[in-house]
Amino acid sequence: MDRIIKLPEPQKELEFPLMKALEKRRSIRKWKDTPISKQEISNLLWAACGITKEKYGNVKCKRTAPSACNAQEIRVYVLLEKGAFLYNEENHELVEIIADDIREYTGTQKMMKSAPMGIVFVADLSRMTSPFLRSKDAKRFSAWVDTGYISQNIYLYCTAANLGTVALSLVDRDKLRELLQLKEHEKIVLTQVVGHLE
Ligand SMILES: Cc1cc2nc3c(=O)[nH]c(=O)nc-3n(C[C@H](O)[C@H](O)[C@H](O)COP(=O)(O)O)c2cc1C
Repeated sequence: MDRIIKLPEPQKELEFPLMKALEKRRSIRKWKDTPISKQEISNLLWAACGITKEKYGNVKCKRTAPSACNAQEIRVYVLLEKGAFLYNEENHELVEIIADDIREYTGTQKMMKSAPMGIVFVADLSRMTSPFLRSKDAKRFSAWVDTGYISQNIYLYCTAANLGTVALSLVDRDKLRELLQLKEHEKIVLTQVVGHLE
């Protein structure tokens, strides 16, 4: 049975002017050593790609981030001291993949290894079933764009919540995909690190 961590309700009433968040957003590569709280993880993941409209019959749910043909192919993995988890947005919970600390693999740059939280964006190509996403290029470009929306949502939440974050393409994808036990149709697009501002 997979270990599940139920997340608290996201604090959707958190206020921060959008235009200020856009102005202040920056890539941050230095953090305090303090862990990210469960409430912050909840807020961050909901902001990233949480559900904003429940599914209705055959009509799929909607998330904070758009995705090509509403494929919702980007899955968000979270790397914490206590293990690596998959975000299940439907139940707003974390599902444990492994109980090991693999945060040092979030990025290859030395300063990334000390970040309190790693995030891995994985494209599940098997979810891209629309005829418009049939070609390899369509799948690849859409997965990058869809990841970008989620990544920017995280940037904006972090700006509003006094957290530092940076997106990373300098990643050992082979090592990370092995650790996360990804299947052939699951591709690592990008990673991101998060920590409290110094
Ligand atoms: C797709 C993508 C990949 C990135 N990869 C890295 C990376 O591997 N390492 C890093 O230090 N910064 C990385 N960055 C951060 C950029 O260097 C940063 O966004 C850019 O310098 C502009 O700075 P700003 O985000 O503060 O505006 C990446 C950004 C994006 C959008």
